[in-house]
Parts: sequence; C-alpha cells; structure tokens
Amino acid sequence: MCAQRLKVTVGVSGGIAAYKSVELVRLLQDAGYDPHVVMTRAAEEFVRPLTFAAITGHKVITSLWSEDAGVGSEADESGIEHINEAQTTQALIVAPATAHVLAKFAHGLADDFLSTMYLATTAPVIMAPAMNVTMWDHPATRANVETLRARGVTFIEPGSGYLACGMVGGGRLADNTAILATLQSVLASANISTNDLTGETVIVTAGGTREAIDPVRFIGNRSSGRMGFALAEAAQRRGARVILIAAPTTIAPPAGCEVICVTSAAEMQAAALQRLNEATIVVMAAAVSDYTVKNATQKLKRDGARTLELEPTADILREISTRRNPGTLVIGFAAETEDILANGRAKLERKGVDAIVVNDVSSPHLGFDSKNNAGTILTKDHEVAIPPTTKAAMAERILDEIKRLRTLPTS
Ligand code: CTP
Repeated sequence: MCAQRLKVTVGVSGGIAAYKSVELVRLLQDAGYDPHVVMTRAAEEFVRPLTFAAITGHKVITSLWSEDAGVGSEADESGIEHINEAQTTQALIVAPATAHVLAKFAHGLADDFLSTMYLATTAPVIMAPAMNVTMWDHPATRANVETLRARGVTFIEPGSGYLACGMVGGGRLADNTAILATLQSVLASANISTNDLTGETVIVTAGGTREAIDPVRFIGNRSSGRMGFALAEAAQRRGARVILIAAPTTIAPPAGCEVICVTSAAEMQAAALQRLNEATIVVMAAAVSDYTVKNATQKLKRDGARTLELEPTADILREISTRRNPGTLVIGFAAETEDILANGRAKLERKGVDAIVVNDVSSPHLGFDSKNNAGTILTKDHEVAIPPTTKAAMAERILDEIKRLRTLPTS
C-alpha cells in the first residue's frame, strides 16, 4: 500500500519561533506528507537550512537567485524555480509568519522566494503568525490579516502565553498539532487527498450500545459517536471503502459511508462478524456494554426495590481479533480512568489486537460527549502520545499509525 506522499511547502520566516518549524516538518513527515522548505533570509538567522535539508532530504530554497538558491541534496536546474515550486505543491504553510511577511503578502510584494512563490501559487495557503503581542495587535497587522483572509488565506491564530520578548499575551505560534490539523482540514475541503488507504476496506464501529432493561428502558453510556465518525470520514477521504457499524449516537454519520445501524452489543457483534471477511482494517471505536439484562421482555412495574440480573456480553473486539483474515489489522480503544497506560498495555495483550488507543475518560473536557480527545496509541513496539486535539485530527493520527503498521513485516 505505497501511496504518493502529498508535497507541502513550509515557508519559514524570521522569528524566534522558527526553531519550532523543525518539529513541524517532522510532524508533517510522520503524518505522511512530503514537506519541502523555503526560508526567508531572516529565518536563516534563527535556524540553519541544513537542518531542514537533513530532515526532508530536499534542497531548502533560500533565495530567488540560482547561485545560492538552495542548500541540500538536489541541484538547482531552473531559473524559474519559484514557479515550479508554486505549481507542484499542494499547500503552502507559512510558520512562523512574521508581521513583515504578512505585510508583504498583503501588498503583493515579491522580493524573495517565499513572497514570489505566494503570488505564483494557486494551492491553499495557511499562515501561522508569531510575533510580539503589540505587533500582533497593531492596526497595520490586523488590516493585513483581514486582507489576506478575504483573499482565501487560512489563519491559525496565535495562542497566548509567554513570548520571547518577555511579554505575556497573544502572538505565540500555534501548536504544531493545530497546524497539522488545519492543513488536513484545508486539504480535505479542497478535495486534495493522499489516497493512502486506497484498496483498504475499513470496518469502523461507533456510538454507544444500549441494553434493554425492559421494552422502554435501557442501560446506555455517554458515547456521542464522534470519534468513530471522525475515523470513518477520514478513512473514506483517504481512499478506503468504509463500513460503519453505528450504535445510537447524538450526531449524524458522515456521508458516503455504508452505515449499518445497530442498538445492542449482540446486534453489533452480529453485524461485525457478518462483514468481517470484507475487512482489511477493523477499528472498534464503539463503547460497547459489558453487560446485558436478563429477561428484559416485560415492562417493569414500580414495585419497591429491584435487582437487575446482568449477564456479560461477548467481547466483540477479542472475537474479531481471533477470527480475522491474515493481514487484517485490528485496532481497539480503551476507556480508562486510572493506570491508563498499564491497563492499555494489558488490554492490547488480552485482546490480541495490533493497536489500542487509550483514552483517559476521567477528564470532563475530553473524550465522551466532547469534540476533543487525547490519548496514546499503543502497539507492540511503539507508543504515540496524542495531546488534546480535535477528534478529526486524532483520527488522522490513528490512521497514520495504522498505515505505519501496514508497512511492518507480518510476524
Ligand atoms: N469492546 C468490545 N466488546 C465489548 C466491550 C468492549 O468489543 N463487549 C471493545 C470496545 O469497542 C473497545 C475495547 O473493546 O475497542 C475496549 O473497551 P473497554 O470498555 O475499554 O474494555 P473492556 O474490554 O470492556 O474492559 P474493562 O471494562 O474491564 O476495562
């Protein structure tokens, strides 16, 4: 499953936050992109082009003029390289974007490679500004941002915090994971896709199952279905055929997936096993009840204290893992409230799966019922921490890890 990586250009301008772009470029690579780097003259005062060249394996473009046009592995063959770079990239991300670069872009100045490339590209442009808070708040900067926004540039607003100038306030470069998530959503809305899951059939389970107590009541859980739906949507966008097995949710499923609606754990088990043969990847994001109620046929009458008799449901994930075809990857989730990683590792082992995404569900702002999530993807040989982010961005990271698992030799 070897897909062409999408080329994205990272424009680095001269702010102290330029060092963070080194990590950004790494993150883009880990997420499956092919980053190329363009630096302004001032950026070179903060980071050496060689650092980017070594990471990306590509020449770093630092000037419009060919004699010193780049540092790295490829020779400069073209006098109109900015046009070539502008036309072959799928997105231009400027991080950090200084006040000076914002002003140049807003006024159409083209006196170096980055500003010239900006005018010459039709690819989506994303800017992550970073500067002193007073500069960021200055009416000139605000006007430049508004001009560029009106022309279709996507801005990742700087965060607040301690700034290199010693002040505290807005102007701090956004988190690299937020920049990555913005890139992914900008590419998705422009219908630019890596297609790196083409040929895969992914079963995703989502939502929270319900176990009837009687014909009108049930035992349920707080799952909204968002994490599973984000996975289904991202997998589909990346070229996979998606079969979405959805227990009750609070939101609508993504368009374009085949959706099988189920209610109870037993129905989810039946649907998953019925379609398992078609799957090359199974991701069990559903919150499945561990217990069901015995004899739930008649409506319970109010009649003093009651005890419900519960019996365990099948462990669908474990069953899928045992019955899967060779080569099918199985990924589970683990909702934990204590000893998160140790419990996750034990679950990875016990369920015989390729990866477990462990969530700490004790935080009220993340996980269940929330648009955001955080966690750690555990595999036999690897541990990827995902700091708090949107479920859409988290879905992309999980699929990236699945892709990595796909490239490992089967044991
Ligand atoms: N799961 C499943 N069938 C069940 C219960 C859970 O397939 N009857 C799946 C979930 O979809 C999830 C994974 O197993 O991918 C882990 O779910 P979790 O509730 O964290 O684990 P449990 O196996 O229920 O273990 P415990 O409740 O003891 O932590």
